[in-house]
Amino acid sequence: PTALMSIHPRFTIGRIHRNLFGGFVEHLGRHIYDGIYEPGHETADADGFRRDVIDLVRELGVTTIRYPGGNFVSGFRWEDSVGPREERPRRLDLAWHSTETNEVGLHEFTSWLDKVGSELMLAVNLGTRGTQEALDLLEYANVPAKTALTDQRVANGRPDPFGVKIWCLGNEMDGPWQLGHRSADDYGKIASQTAKAMRQVDPDLELVVCGSSGAQMPTFGEWERTVLQHTYDDVDYISCHAYYQEHDGDTASFLASAVDMDRFIDSVVQTADHVRAVKRSEKQINISFDEWNVWYLTRFDDEDKIQDVAEWPVAPRLLEDVYSVLDAVVFGNLMISLLKHADRVTSASLAQLVNVIAPIMTEPGGIAWRQTTFFPFAITSRLARGEALAVTLDVPTYATARYGEVPLVDAVATHDAESGEAAVFLVNRSQTESLEVRVDVSGLGDVDVRETHMIADDDIHATNTLEQPERVVPSANDTARVGNGTLTITLPPVSWTAVDIA
Ligand code: AHR
Repeated sequence: PTALMSIHPRFTIGRIHRNLFGGFVEHLGRHIYDGIYEPGHETADADGFRRDVIDLVRELGVTTIRYPGGNFVSGFRWEDSVGPREERPRRLDLAWHSTETNEVGLHEFTSWLDKVGSELMLAVNLGTRGTQEALDLLEYANVPAKTALTDQRVANGRPDPFGVKIWCLGNEMDGPWQLGHRSADDYGKIASQTAKAMRQVDPDLELVVCGSSGAQMPTFGEWERTVLQHTYDDVDYISCHAYYQEHDGDTASFLASAVDMDRFIDSVVQTADHVRAVKRSEKQINISFDEWNVWYLTRFDDEDKIQDVAEWPVAPRLLEDVYSVLDAVVFGNLMISLLKHADRVTSASLAQLVNVIAPIMTEPGGIAWRQTTFFPFAITSRLARGEALAVTLDVPTYATARYGEVPLVDAVATHDAESGEAAVFLVNRSQTESLEVRVDVSGLGDVDVRETHMIADDDIHATNTLEQPERVVPSANDTARVGNGTLTITLPPVSWTAVDIA
């Protein structure tokens, strides 16, 4: 079968915000301890951070990093994580039934961010705490004036403010599992109060209000409407969270996960715009898709958490999904979905970064390696520049149990007017057929193929592991060529491909 596609640099969706390539680091499992931080490791630097992990995070190309949770933040006392290390308290972490040592806190984490070249997106606890504690953290972190709280920051070794620009007003407050879970009405009120108070300190902060934990939540839609009715004038973004996995061997539906992400984003945009209409507002609320990934959630249940509170461990192995080629193809498609909505999704965070549903894995005292999902992220972050282009697609479809009839190919293109560079990202969702795609690129002028990168394998279940860390790596797609204004490329079954043209 053949697919036809057309792109033109004048038909743009929107500018691609670099924050679209954000990540997420939670105090969860072995993310911090034995992940990014392992003082005894042979690559550890003077601060105890693993240099091999720093190098991989840099290579991944993550921009903003959301921290410190996640569910963890809803029981977190930020004061525990600053000050002399030997005086920091050990605390129960109710979210993950673990013990938090607070050995790594705000100061250490920001020094790690400097090493990896990423910016902090900080979440406040609106679960067990409220407006005052959020204000205290903001003052401690961002205020240059001399106050009791900023004196503490200086005494803790940081004379200059951290200058955190993007703040999340809690985490997944619609979820019954969340500490301090509230109704949309109650959450909307406290989020509005907190946002207004934080803006008194700094009107230029970028604030994210919690949307739904997923489109499958019973309150989805109504939650967004109610929360935005309270907070529309106070915030800049509403969050979306989505995790996908294969259910009961239904690979066809799993491969179409990005169809669900497209619909999810469209629904939240429509809901936000509805509230805008009701309020006769000039302002546009955008989306912070601040948790997204493939996550085999059904493999993780409460059994994995230690029930006896006397035994909650430090840094247990939790949520350590091992990703396959199939997962990486779906993952690459999720990135295509984010780019297709670049006009409204202006911030996103891959959940998560190291060891915990992560593109990077580590072995204590051993190696760090790239999971299959590492590659679509790193390549898309590097090649998707400038503006996302609207793509016209004429492709065959196939039937799925979850999402109905869906296209076999999904794609997006990007174009940087300054450099003239363009890129096309494509997936073939067919499990059996190769597909030839012909893309009209005549509007780009006299261009040629510069690089191609493909994730495909005879064994779609192949993974990278401690024993075989480089079993799956991207390969070139040598079928790609441009002639007479048309880019022609053949996509093997279950594949993700990026083509760089200039
Ligand atoms: O990313 C793992 C968890 O998923 C986060 O802590 C939570 O916000 C979400 O439910």
